[in-house]
Amino acid sequence: MDRVLTNVNMVTLAGDDGYQVINDAMIGIQDGVIVYAGHKEHFDCHGHPDVMDCQGALVTPGLIDCHTHLVFAGNRASEFEQRLNGVPYEQIAKAGGGILSTVRATREASEETLFRLASERLHGLKNEGVTTVEIKSGYGLTLDDELKMLRVARRIGEMPDINVSTTLLAAHALPPEYSDDPDRYIQFICDEILPAAAQENLADAVDVFCEGIGFSTQQCQRVFHAAQKHGLAIKGHTEQLSNLGGSTMAARMGALSVDHIEYLDNEGVAALAACGTVATLLPGAFYFLRENQMPPIDQLRELNVPMAIATDFNPGTSPIASIRTMMNMACTLFRMTPQECLQGVTTNAAQALGMGGLRGQIREGMQADLAIWTVSHPAELSYRIGVPDLKARVVNGELFIHQHSER
Ligand code: NIG
Ligand code: FE
Repeated sequence: MDRVLTNVNMVTLAGDDGYQVINDAMIGIQDGVIVYAGHKEHFDCHGHPDVMDCQGALVTPGLIDCHTHLVFAGNRASEFEQRLNGVPYEQIAKAGGGILSTVRATREASEETLFRLASERLHGLKNEGVTTVEIKSGYGLTLDDELKMLRVARRIGEMPDINVSTTLLAAHALPPEYSDDPDRYIQFICDEILPAAAQENLADAVDVFCEGIGFSTQQCQRVFHAAQKHGLAIKGHTEQLSNLGGSTMAARMGALSVDHIEYLDNEGVAALAACGTVATLLPGAFYFLRENQMPPIDQLRELNVPMAIATDFNPGTSPIASIRTMMNMACTLFRMTPQECLQGVTTNAAQALGMGGLRGQIREGMQADLAIWTVSHPAELSYRIGVPDLKARVVNGELFIHQHSER
């Protein structure tokens, strides 16, 4: 065994319900994988070289941010100001601002610059216990620029202290070059961008923005068919600002997750339940756009649809690189419980990335991704914001210390 953690209060989340806490536990790790997670009396740690006494610290699975747009250049603070002067988001988008203003800045930026900017943004997430992050393209919208963004995301994934899942989001907005013919851009995605991303193994999944200011349900379906032809998983930004039926279409095609879903109706919820699709809630965008249409939390609960929570970190609708703020907002804005929030950033977030059997729980056979906290109850993780509660993270069995002082 390479590493043993002793004296751990372990929140395993390895069960259908509840935190699944094991007190006074031990965790054994070998080759980056958890090989023992249970009561200490069943385990003899004598002779193991790397024993870490966690002194009763609470240990959870490493947190997973399953929806981000971490790679981009520039910022949209001036649009933020415009919106506060009364101009709506959709109007800014139609006037060539919004997503397209970030597209211009991102096309101009080098891979090196994008890598530096994204790495900096990741700091906040790591300091809050995140060990896996999903990163989308979608601000390039040309073959070269979409691949550039994905290469940056892959490069971030080469760092030893973070796992990255990459998603091609070429169908994010209509690039100006195709403004007279959206279908031709969809064709270009299916025929050129998607095959190239698949060929270079740059994307783990393919995403779309199914919305009036994005693409129609039919156009999104074409992108999904092409993705599946190349063996890539699918997911969607759906039902964020209106109900176009994108979630139902995505779920029926086997999407891993549908994200935002404020306008999802009962039929849509039933489709998610029937197809095993995760509902990813993005309270940061809800908050930042001052939406008042609530996602259908009660119906999702009733039909046992797994709910994930993510930052949706992006320059337009959620410039908030804090997973714990999202957990708190999911409680205060969506009335979710702290337990649902922790499940939403661990086991359900893993499922939203197709990593359900690999990450997001503490149990034997899972990758050793852990967050070691100074808190005494897991509800504290959703309750408090901005306090350095993280002691250390373990990523694929390797230890990264965040706090040296005794708290
Ligand atoms: O997830 N909904 C579409 N895409 C992003 C917003 C991107 C932007 O405004 O730059 C989102 O909210
Ligand atoms: Fe998003």
